[in-house]
Amino acid sequence: MANKVKFNPDFPDISESDKLFKRSEGLIPAYSQTLAKGPTQWIRGIAPKFLVKGKGSHVWDPDGNEYIDLNMGIGPIVLGYCYDKVDDAIRKQLEDGITFSMTHPLEVELSEKIRDVIPNAESVRFSKTGCDVTTAAVRVARAFTKREKVLCCGYHGWHDWYIAVTDRNAGIPEAVKDLTFTFNYNDIDSLEQSIDEDTACVILEPFVFEEEKNDFLKKVHEVCKKNGTLLIFDEMWTGFRIAPGGAQEYFGVTPDLACYSKAVANGMPLSVITGRQDVMRLLDKDVFFFTTFGGEALSLAAAMATIDEIITKNVPAFLSEQGKKLKDGYNKIVSELGMDYTKCMGYNCRTIITFDAKAGNPLEMKSLVQQEMIKRGVLWCGFHNMCFSHSGGDIEYILKAYEDVLPVLKKAVEENKVKDSLKGEPVEPVFRKTGNFNMKPKK
Ligand SMILES: Cc1ncc(COP(=O)(O)O)c(C=O)c1O
Repeated sequence: MANKVKFNPDFPDISESDKLFKRSEGLIPAYSQTLAKGPTQWIRGIAPKFLVKGKGSHVWDPDGNEYIDLNMGIGPIVLGYCYDKVDDAIRKQLEDGITFSMTHPLEVELSEKIRDVIPNAESVRFSKTGCDVTTAAVRVARAFTKREKVLCCGYHGWHDWYIAVTDRNAGIPEAVKDLTFTFNYNDIDSLEQSIDEDTACVILEPFVFEEEKNDFLKKVHEVCKKNGTLLIFDEMWTGFRIAPGGAQEYFGVTPDLACYSKAVANGMPLSVITGRQDVMRLLDKDVFFFTTFGGEALSLAAAMATIDEIITKNVPAFLSEQGKKLKDGYNKIVSELGMDYTKCMGYNCRTIITFDAKAGNPLEMKSLVQQEMIKRGVLWCGFHNMCFSHSGGDIEYILKAYEDVLPVLKKAVEENKVKDSLKGEPVEPVFRKTGNFNMKPKK
């Protein structure tokens, strides 16, 4: 779609957003169902708080302001908002029904399609959210190995077994906290030091932003195999993005179990667990994993269309190409400006902008860039989450915005005025502890 976003001479009028926000005060705890969409991640007074419409890579807020979106629904929108082929598939299914009293044939058809695409998918089950399937994977791994401990690396959702290792762990019994531990990415020693005879599974995001080094994933696989521990890939972000078959295909490492959601259905709520038949067989009876909406047909229809499109249009190659332009473009601008305290990094399909504390408060620097990007019609939260609808025009526009905005940051840093330049409260961190914590299981 053509890029119609206009540079705003002023900050956007967000009065309708603010009115809605006021109505949610005291009514909706945290104001949002998804932390990354809530007010703590957006500069107060400047960023819109609600979105009402999307088409392609563009979104509109309740005040009618249009933005190029770089968040894409926090991952699900891999093709674009209101993507015709997917929406047509949903509409067609809607005519026949949404949820039925028996299994729907799409459950079989989509399982077969996923078996063809995902290397380890000897067996396939569906659910609704990412943490439905990470939790199912952990439970089935515990049942299979008859062990209890879990080692993890990355984010895996809100359920007890994982969130116990973060600082937002109120309400979780101590006994549960004593069973999950973390290890560090690209640090095989940290895994070897923690794994023991009671480790049921190792679950990790195959990558987040840091590049995989020294065959780390192959080594993780070997360590797990030697220890009789199951390896689970949490492919929520990598699945259907880095390659049609996700990180398993990209790195040539086949985990025992893998978990998918986000991109699989271009915005419809669907998650998938795939894995070894001998392990997944436990889901027949011994391990209970059933939910009312697991086979909801609109999402299954959307996934069929999404996966077809990802394969036929080679969407991962496009995401990589467009993402590289943004990453290289950002790094070129900051290099020319001599701003060695900020960079864009990560695999091209999903990159992050970092700010180094040596130049000031990273959250304030991020907030200033966010404020200025929003002014210029780019809904920016420090990530480039690429989708198939990010056009050449979008990329050019975003880079032009960076050319305007980064000198603003540079000047503010040099004059020690980043905080003073903010028109509202800055963004907040999601978790305070993010690495090197809860590392070593008690023997
Ligand atoms: C890597 C990863 N795993 C698991 C989850 C949990 O998924 P959900 O929020 O759908 O439960 C997320 C969510 O962002 C995620 O990024």
